[in-house]
Amino acid sequence: MTSPKNAAQRRRLICVRAGKALESRFLFNARAAARMTTLEGKRILLGITGGIAAYKAAELVRLLMKAGANVRVAMTDAACRFVTPVTMQALSGQRVWTDLWDPQVADNMGHIELSRDRDLIVVAPGSADFIAKAALGLADDLLSALTLARRCPLLVAPAMNVEMWGHPATQRNVRALRDDGVLIAGPAAGEQACGETGMGRMLEPEAIAAEVEAFFQPRLLAGKRVLVTAGPTEEPIDPVRVITNSSSGKMGFAVARAAQEAGGEVTLVSGPVALAAPAGVARVDVRTARQMFDAVKARADACDVFIAVAAVADYRVRHPAEHKIKKRAGKRLTLELEENPDILAYVARLPKRPFCVGFAAESRDLARNARAKRAEKGVPLLAANLAQEALGAEDNALTLFDERGEHPLGRGPKIEQARKLVAHIAAMLAAGDRPAGRAAAGRRARQPRS
Ligand SMILES: Cc1cc2nc3c(=O)[nH]c(=O)nc-3n(C[C@H](O)[C@H](O)[C@H](O)COP(=O)(O)O)c2cc1C
Repeated sequence: MTSPKNAAQRRRLICVRAGKALESRFLFNARAAARMTTLEGKRILLGITGGIAAYKAAELVRLLMKAGANVRVAMTDAACRFVTPVTMQALSGQRVWTDLWDPQVADNMGHIELSRDRDLIVVAPGSADFIAKAALGLADDLLSALTLARRCPLLVAPAMNVEMWGHPATQRNVRALRDDGVLIAGPAAGEQACGETGMGRMLEPEAIAAEVEAFFQPRLLAGKRVLVTAGPTEEPIDPVRVITNSSSGKMGFAVARAAQEAGGEVTLVSGPVALAAPAGVARVDVRTARQMFDAVKARADACDVFIAVAAVADYRVRHPAEHKIKKRAGKRLTLELEENPDILAYVARLPKRPFCVGFAAESRDLARNARAKRAEKGVPLLAANLAQEALGAEDNALTLFDERGEHPLGRGPKIEQARKLVAHIAAMLAAGDRPAGRAAAGRRARQPRS
C-alpha cells in the first residue's frame, strides 16, 4: 500500500490496522451526541435591554434553564422599566445585575467578572441603543461595559420598531457587529407592539433558545453541502383529492436543522407540511414525488451528503381527473396507479454520488426490513423507525444500520435524534466510508423513470 497522503487516509489506515479503533470512535461519538442534547452545564449571561419585547426574556430564561443552562441576568435601566429584576431573579434563581456602580461587589469589578465564567452572552431583546453602543464600543452602563470586556462570544436578538431597524444608522451598526464576529439572531417581520408592521420584531423565545443550542453544537459537517428531503408527497387524484400519507415533516426538518447547526450548507426539499424552515436552511417546496425527484436531481451532483427522510409516495394515479370526480351511488371507483421514481436509489447510483442516508418507516420487523432496504438501495447508512410511533410525533426512537451493524439511538425529541444521526454521519465520513452494497444495488434496483 502506498503511504497515506492526507489526514483522512492516515485516519483510515489507523482504523483498518487497529481494528477496534473505529468502534471506539463510534462509542466516542455516541457519548458526544448524548452530551449534545441540552444546554447542560452551559453558562449564559442574558442581557436584557429596554424594549417591549423584554417581557419575552422571562420565557427565554425559563427555556434556557429548562435546557440545563446556568443563566445569569444583567438588565439595563430601561429594561427595568419594562420588567422587574424580581421576575428574572425568581426565574433564574440568581441575583440579577443592573448597576455598574454596585457597592456590594467587593472590588467593584462586576463589569469584568460577570462575564468571565460565561460561555456565551445573549442580549435579548437587543435595543437599537444597545446595538449602537456595542458597535461603537461604548461602555457607560453595566451591560455595555461587560459586553465590551467579554472574552466569550456574543449573540444579539434585535427588537425594535420597523423604522428604527431599517434606519441606515442601525443597519450600519448591525454590519459593524457582524464584522466583529457578533451573532445576530433575527429580527423577524410582523405586527409590532407600536401598531406598525414590518421587520424588527424580536424572534420568539423558542427560536432564540434554538439559536443558542445551535451555537453550542460541534461543527461536525463544516464545509459539507447537505441535501435533505422531508415530509409527505401528494399525488393528485382529481383537482381536489390526493393520495398522501401522514408524515408531518418533523423528522426531516429536525435533520435539516441538526445538519445546519453542525456547520453544513443545507438545502431542504420539502413536501407539503405546516412547518417553518430552520434558520439558515434553503428551502425548496414541492408537492408530488416527481417534483421532489426533479428538485433532488437538480441538486444531487453538487452535494456531499444526501439524507432522504421524506415519505415519498410509491405510486401515483396514472390519469388524474381534470375535474372533480362525482360520487356515483352504488358504483365502485377504480384508480389505476403507476410507480413513482425511486429518489434515493437514483442518487445512490449516480457516478459522482454523495454519501447517502436512507430512512425506513416500518410497521413491523424493523431490523429485517431496514437491512433489506439498505442493501436494496445501496446506501451506507439507513435510519429506521416504527411508523406508528414516529409519524407526526414529537419524539422518535431511531435505529441506525450500517456495515458495522445496528446502533439504537434510544428515544428522545426528534432534534436530539437528528443530532445523533448527524454525529454518526460525520464519524462515517471521517472514517472514509463508501456506499455499501453498490454491486447488489446495481443488480437489484430498478432504473427510475423521470
Ligand atoms: C414604550 C417604549 C418602548 C420601546 N421599545 C423599544 C424597542 O422595542 N426597541 C428599541 O430599540 N427601543 C425601544 N424603546 C426605546 C428604548 O427604551 C431607549 O432607546 C432606551 O434608551 C434603551 O436603553 P437600553 O439600550 O440601555 O436598554 C422604547 C421606549 C419606550 C418608552
